[in-house]
Amino acid sequence: MSRETEIEQAKAHFEEILRQQLERVDKMKEEGDFVDYPNKDKIIIGVVGGDGIGPFITAQAQRVLEHLLKEDVESGRIEFKVIDGCTIENRAACGKAIPDDVLEELKACDVILKGPTTTPRKGDNWPNIESANVAMRKELDLFANVRPVSVPEKGIDWTFYRENTEGSYAVGSQGVNVNDDLAVDFTVATQEGTDRIIRAAFDFAKKSGKNKLTVVTKANVIKTTDGKFLDTAKEIAKEYPEVELDDWYIDIMTAKLVDEKRRQQFKVLVLPNLYGDILTDEAAEFQGGVGTAGSANIGKKYAMFEAIHGSAPRMVEEGRAQYADPSSIIRAAGMLLDHIGYPEKAEELKMALDICSNYEKKKVLTGRDTGATGAEYADYVMETLEDPSLKEKYLSYVQ
Ligand code: IPM
Ligand code: MG
Repeated sequence: MSRETEIEQAKAHFEEILRQQLERVDKMKEEGDFVDYPNKDKIIIGVVGGDGIGPFITAQAQRVLEHLLKEDVESGRIEFKVIDGCTIENRAACGKAIPDDVLEELKACDVILKGPTTTPRKGDNWPNIESANVAMRKELDLFANVRPVSVPEKGIDWTFYRENTEGSYAVGSQGVNVNDDLAVDFTVATQEGTDRIIRAAFDFAKKSGKNKLTVVTKANVIKTTDGKFLDTAKEIAKEYPEVELDDWYIDIMTAKLVDEKRRQQFKVLVLPNLYGDILTDEAAEFQGGVGTAGSANIGKKYAMFEAIHGSAPRMVEEGRAQYADPSSIIRAAGMLLDHIGYPEKAEELKMALDICSNYEKKKVLTGRDTGATGAEYADYVMETLEDPSLKEKYLSYVQ
């Protein structure tokens, strides 16, 4: 193929991407406000097990939610809907990140609790379909990925607001090999997309009384998209005089999270998609690893709550799935409770999880039959929730 033809083909591909993204901007401009859950008559919680250990741990999180929401489940205000079909086998068979019928079922729910889904990668046996997480975030426009990390005894109390629909993820599976020598990927930042994530982070910083926001970019090098992110944060800061804004570059930020003194000053952090992906894994490590963190994917209409860790297919192959640790997805379930208007129950669940996993540790999960099963751990969490001295107990550990 001649060089001119190669360039023409790449240009046509690029044109298509520009059209898609501009259409997305049009849609964002039309989007309404956040759903007002506390005033909703009925809330449908979709439960997507996913792959590998996913269905095992998700079932435990559902049990805990059903326990905490017992009255409202009985009155019919809350309904659980288990959604099958989001498995890698089915996704591969349909050749889609999310099969159409599954997407339809997801859209009939208000919020979704989601287990880990296998993401095909180059060289494995699955077709090169997009990650179900990434597709779900895009399809349901879940633009804010909220990931809290807290280690009270180390003075760590961070809430990450990771942009979730743009950056290098927006068209991550649509890069172009111009020829065998040249590969190009695209990074996208829209004004609407940047505004809404930064506003969400400022709102949280203000509402929570933390009053401190750190914007993390690499705007000194990635000047256009990260430049927009940083400039927008500085602009919106003018509307939030009570919130102090500082800005850091991602490289030094990864270093400062290890700096025991400095890291305590960070409270709420807002950052583009890929940096958020990386930094939140590092951050979760201080709390006991990605397996201990929950993640909320919030949009104006829908929201999805998930475990950060993978689907651990080997545990299933080795017959150990019932020993998988459900604490990350139960943490995600706690964020779901907070989001749909049960902040007190969410707080109680957080305390119970911290007691069970970090302090009291009466049941320890080892991932095999030397430890507790996920169901035994969930029972332990529910017993702890029922303890009338839950709060005192928690405070006795963290103070
Ligand atoms: C996460 C995960 C996903 C991501 C993967 C599975 C595509 O690492 O939720 O952080 O990169 O966003
Ligand atoms: Mg990640």
